[in-house]
Amino acid sequence: MDSSLHKHYHDEEFDPRGFIDTYFYNGTNDMFEEVVVYLITQLFKMFSSEINVIEFTDANIREFEMWRNKEPGAADWSHAAKIVCELEGKSEEWEGKEDKARRAVKRVVKCDLTKDNPLEPVVLPQVDCLLCIFVLQVVSKDHQAFCSNLKKLASMLKTGGHMLLIGTYNNSGYMVGEHKFFSLSYDEAFIREAVCDAGFIIENLEALPTKKTSTFSDYDHVMFLIACKEREV
Ligand SMILES: C[S@@+](CC[C@H](N)C(=O)[O-])C[C@H]1O[C@@H](n2cnc3c(N)ncnc32)[C@H](O)[C@@H]1O
Repeated sequence: MDSSLHKHYHDEEFDPRGFIDTYFYNGTNDMFEEVVVYLITQLFKMFSSEINVIEFTDANIREFEMWRNKEPGAADWSHAAKIVCELEGKSEEWEGKEDKARRAVKRVVKCDLTKDNPLEPVVLPQVDCLLCIFVLQVVSKDHQAFCSNLKKLASMLKTGGHMLLIGTYNNSGYMVGEHKFFSLSYDEAFIREAVCDAGFIIENLEALPTKKTSTFSDYDHVMFLIACKEREV
């Protein structure tokens, strides 16, 4: 093919239907397997990738499995599915939404972030997206440990992947029943530096000031942070 004779599709007459007829139907050409079947399969794998849950305590894993298996006595999370459906404008489909979330969980893996290799002996491929919700501050005994644990989490994520980190500012503890549990207190300046030092670029950081009057937990903001992993550290 002499490429100097070729037309440019954006400034010459390009017939989209002719293009579709030529390339995207089975039997009209021998590229169907690679430009249709192969690509749809790749996209399917990419967008139907399933969720790994990592969790530390056996009791928490058990509680989670009860919800996942719809066992009698499982915690009721229907309100969460209803909120999502309302946000999507489909408030009538919350049961299907919750079941879809259950099915999306591929496996539950035990994880101890205080270990050098937190998932040992399991090896998971690096993931595209990591959600860490109210974990780092309760697992880390001091700021140095927080930074070290954050780096361990970062190592589970692909470069270019995203981390959603949710936590609270100036939170020293929280009550569960009559027990008070530790939380590492930090502020926005600390989290910005820790996340950047762990190899991320912060794309969005919002913090909602609390309006609560209850005393179960002493946080003053709920933080929502999205960061992109720029490099391995
Ligand atoms: C306050 S709970 C938050 C749970 C849940 N993400 C939520 O939003 O409700 C703290 C979580 O930290 C986990 N955790 C505690 N110690 C840990 C450790 N050493 N390594 C990993 N996770 C740990 C607990 O198992 C628990 O899931």
